[in-house]
Amino acid sequence: MLDNSEGYVTEDGRKIGGVVMEMKNITLRFGGVVAIKDISFDIREGEIRAIIGPNGAGKSSMLNVISGFYIPQEGEVWFHGAKRPQMRPYEVARQGIARTFQNIALFEGMSVLDNVMTGRLNYMKTNLFQQAMWKGKAEAEEVENREAVEKIIDFLEIQHIRKTPVSRLPYGLKKRVELARALAAEPKLLLLDEPMAGMNVEEKEDMSRFILDVNDEFGTTIALIEHDMGVVMDLSDRVVVMDYGKKIGDGTPDEVRSNQEVIDAYLGVSHD
Ligand SMILES: Nc1ncnc2c1ncn2[C@@H]1O[C@H](COP(=O)(O)OP(=O)(O)O)[C@@H](O)[C@H]1O
Ligand SMILES: [Mg+2]
Repeated sequence: MLDNSEGYVTEDGRKIGGVVMEMKNITLRFGGVVAIKDISFDIREGEIRAIIGPNGAGKSSMLNVISGFYIPQEGEVWFHGAKRPQMRPYEVARQGIARTFQNIALFEGMSVLDNVMTGRLNYMKTNLFQQAMWKGKAEAEEVENREAVEKIIDFLEIQHIRKTPVSRLPYGLKKRVELARALAAEPKLLLLDEPMAGMNVEEKEDMSRFILDVNDEFGTTIALIEHDMGVVMDLSDRVVVMDYGKKIGDGTPDEVRSNQEVIDAYLGVSHD
């Protein structure tokens, strides 16, 4: 792998750019529990970056720091070359960062279409008062948002369930709807917390394909947590390995696969 400050070219010929997100010496505590201990790593433009490690390693906590849900006690988050001030999750979202959750967080009673629409909230500029005063502008905005959402629905092949309440969907499709909602925000950086957990082999293959397509078609940078090592090896350009809140490995899939500390802590044992 050719690596420099400008970026590198992957084995499959994709061009990876400069650093977009840099975590510097992040420490996060919950009372006496240290969920993240002095971890640093970066994410480059166009990259698919995996975070792996045993349960309780601090992986979700790390995504929560990136998305602004958790505020670390120590360390800095740098985004596009500037230190990010303390931000609320909605402010982070406005910077072009969207996420899915380890435990699906959709509006179960609402249709797929309406759930995906909620991903457009950052694009809805007019408020209710303006909508009443200035019908034309609100309508134009509504049309634009609907078009963006329909495009995502086509892309993820969920047209057939667009009117279905989410509560009626099988688990695998709910995960796909959650991805659709995140994509509706047109993120530059997409954070996926175990997008394939609990899926069967076929569903995993579908989700893997969609993740690759999103990266390829929209150029979206992706950071994902995943347990299935086959999937990680297939999808990701670089992998961060966490164990008990510490970083124990960082590199290409091949590099981490042959890292003895990683093998001892994680790869050598079964995680199903
Ligand atoms: N909101 C929270 N409050 C208290 N402890 C938490 C919270 N979130 C995570 N933790 C703790 O932090 C550690 C790391 O958890 P987590 O980030 O969920 O790990 P992973 O996603 O790798 O399984 C665990 O010990 C967990 O119990
Ligand atoms: Mg987790």
